[in-house]
Amino acid sequence: MSFSLEKVVPWGRSYEEYLAMFDLSQGDLERRILGCGDGPASFNCGLTQRGGRVVSVDPIYEHSAEQIRARIAETYEAVVGQTRSNLDEFVWKTIPSVEELARLRLAAMEEFLADYPAGRAEGRYRVGGLPELPFLDGSFDLALCSHYLFLYSGQLSLDFHLRSIVELCRVAREVRIFPLLELGAITSRHVEGVVGALENLDYAVTIEEVPYEFQRGGNQMLVVSSVPSSASP
Ligand SMILES: C[S@@+](CC[C@H](N)C(=O)[O-])C[C@H]1O[C@@H](n2cnc3c(N)ncnc32)[C@H](O)[C@@H]1O
Repeated sequence: MSFSLEKVVPWGRSYEEYLAMFDLSQGDLERRILGCGDGPASFNCGLTQRGGRVVSVDPIYEHSAEQIRARIAETYEAVVGQTRSNLDEFVWKTIPSVEELARLRLAAMEEFLADYPAGRAEGRYRVGGLPELPFLDGSFDLALCSHYLFLYSGQLSLDFHLRSIVELCRVAREVRIFPLLELGAITSRHVEGVVGALENLDYAVTIEEVPYEFQRGGNQMLVVSSVPSSASP
């Protein structure tokens, strides 16, 4: 049986993984960035330490650090166990083993947890969730969404994807989504429908290769920009 999860889990990647997943240049890092569904990733912490401007939004931020730590602990065995049972769905190159994967992910999530109380007080971690975000139009230059849209295509409908991406385009000039695979390392059932529908709404849509591949075949991001004045899905 391929990698599967019943619901969306809190599981966080590192600052360096975000750089590669979204092919972020120095210029990109100087823009106002929204991390949508960042959960316990350490991107916000890492970019803030380097002087960047970043806000993360996720429903999980209604919880305290200790509650999020407990959710990560509950999730840990399922994610690591599923990975161990489906080794051939992943590329064991940059990350050589399940043990190293667990170590890297836990280190990133510890970094997030250490930063979270201060970041929440500073407004860098905001409670909210797709398909409606608590931000004014054009609040950000770039919105990033990693391992939520497309990955959970079995749980989230095509209509939800479309409304969510249009919403991300409302609050940011450019939107990048990674990966285009769903759980089980197969191309998301929604990619084709989403691209076609966004093009019909006059958004500029491209699929770009990135220098990151952990789920086998997962080395592409969707880039969406140019908001038409009267768009609605
Ligand atoms: C697998 S984690 C990915 C975390 C991070 N982006 C990364 O790649 O390391 C999925 C995240 O999506 C968040 N999420 C769940 N529902 C959401 C929604 N409606 N809008 C935005 N994020 C949501 C979860 O709370 C969780 O933190």
